[in-house]
Amino acid sequence: MSDVFDFSTFPTLTSDRLVLRELSPDDAADLFVWRSDPVVQKYNSEPMRAVAEAAALIEELRQEYASRTGIPWAVTLRDEGRAVGLFGFAGWERGHRRADIGYDLRRDYWGRGIATEALDAMLRFGFGAMGLNRVEAQTIADNHESVRLLGRLGFQRDGLRRSYSWEDDGTFHDGAIYGLLRDEHRVVRTE
Ligand SMILES: CC(C)(COP(=O)(O)OP(=O)(O)OC[C@H]1O[C@@H](n2cnc3c(N)ncnc32)[C@H](O)[C@@H]1OP(=O)(O)O)[C@@H](O)C(=O)NCCC(=O)NCCS
Repeated sequence: MSDVFDFSTFPTLTSDRLVLRELSPDDAADLFVWRSDPVVQKYNSEPMRAVAEAAALIEELRQEYASRTGIPWAVTLRDEGRAVGLFGFAGWERGHRRADIGYDLRRDYWGRGIATEALDAMLRFGFGAMGLNRVEAQTIADNHESVRLLGRLGFQRDGLRRSYSWEDDGTFHDGAIYGLLRDEHRVVRTE
């Protein structure tokens, strides 16, 4: 594909309720709100302890964009400027037309369909402008919010990594690999 997205202009995405915009160093304090929340981080890295860690993550993700391997988006509501979620593509393999996704959202914004709407916008961009054929997500198999989100958009479980991850409850948890092919993207209604 010759007209595939080339990183020359940041791809701001919009949907009914959301604007997915470029992540800025100024988002560090907002990002810290949910990355320091032990409930949000339950199946992810240790909760952050200082805003400086959020600033470092933002810098790392901006470098991924600069090196053209990933696209991180700050999720915002149309009528609010602040970041309430971090969604993005990583590990874009152009030759294989596939990329991985990651997503997390501030806890007081859960349960409103925001992640569904944000991910739907990302997938449209991925299967459209990025020319992807496969989008992959890795999640802990009993991260129910994450698994339901993927299922709603049409992802299928492609594999299971038994006892993949040691969690706070003192046991190993399976890791699951989910995949979505371009023809399987299920358009969802979020209004
Ligand atoms: C995974 C995560 C991003 C989901 O966020 P979310 O916005 O609550 O997810 P959804 O968009 O799927 O919405 C969740 C619920 O809102 C409901 N909902 C409410 N209003 C809705 C609307 N207008 N449109 C659609 N769904 C709506 C949905 O039905 C859904 O309920 P259900 O899961 O009981 O069926 C969030 O739980 C999170 O940040 N988790 C921690 C981080 C994490 O684990 N990330 C994944 C790492 S692999």
